[in-house]
Amino acid sequence: MSENVHAPDLSVNLAGVTLKNPVVAVSGTFGFGREYGEYYDIGRLGAVCVKGITLLPRGGNPPPRVAETPMGMLNSVGLQNPGIDAFLSDELPFLRRFDTAVIANISGNTPEEYARMAEKLGDMVDLIEVNISCPNVKAGGMLFGTDPALAAEVTRAAKRAAGRPVLVKLTPNVTDIAHIALAVKDAGADGISLINTLGGMRIDTETRRPILRMNTGGLSGPAVLPVAIRCVYQVRGLGLPVLGMGGVSTASDAVEMMLAGAHAVGIGSAMFADPYAPMKVLQGLGEFMASHHLTRISELTGGVLPWEA
Ligand code: FUM
Repeated sequence: MSENVHAPDLSVNLAGVTLKNPVVAVSGTFGFGREYGEYYDIGRLGAVCVKGITLLPRGGNPPPRVAETPMGMLNSVGLQNPGIDAFLSDELPFLRRFDTAVIANISGNTPEEYARMAEKLGDMVDLIEVNISCPNVKAGGMLFGTDPALAAEVTRAAKRAAGRPVLVKLTPNVTDIAHIALAVKDAGADGISLINTLGGMRIDTETRRPILRMNTGGLSGPAVLPVAIRCVYQVRGLGLPVLGMGGVSTASDAVEMMLAGAHAVGIGSAMFADPYAPMKVLQGLGEFMASHHLTRISELTGGVLPWEA
């Protein structure tokens, strides 16, 4: 007699796109995949979100642009990237060799720049992540993400030109993240990514200078996990697909993120300490499913239970 055993279903739906599993490499922590491709088959990931791309190439901010913090790190990279044309000709073909979804993270100085990039991407990527939350640039970036009207304007511009679903990446550096999420939802976003980094600063006590050349930067790493969980939890009622990220380094963190409301989970800074972190999270998710008798990982999304009154 054969037992009816079903393989655990790790697939998830993110804004209409099926990912084979919920583990996503976060923008800015995975480059364009080449370096990590030397460690493992990046086709095992649910998706890869590439380093933030701009219309024209950018050299980024002057060094020092990273600093260690308790349970995390600060960065002020400043969107160093080769520009969208070089991305399309030199980087995307490499990523397309792997059986993983590709998410293009785009940043612009104006809504029109987002639209031009979305147009250039066409249907060549699986999802577009509209970055309105970078804290390390003088124009655009977080300025768009902290104002609901500007956030909506950028979303509308990108959506009008996009040939693929649009996620909007939100900053936690606001009073009410649900307010911004609602604005981008009403402007047509297909989903949201959150959180980008939290504004932070460190000072060298000997030189008395800020450690970062740009003085301030964005905080990521395990220290921000509870902030990220709180933000995902606060937007769960809006009915928007969510790519949850921020401080996730273990399978347990990823489960927590999904219970808070995430449909897929980004692994970012954890990879700087352990390049295999996404593979370990993936394996741990399978083990969690087995030990909790889950057949579909998507059952976890939004599964947090309220306290009884
Ligand atoms: O500085 C940077 O390149 C960071 C980008 C981001 O946080 O989106």
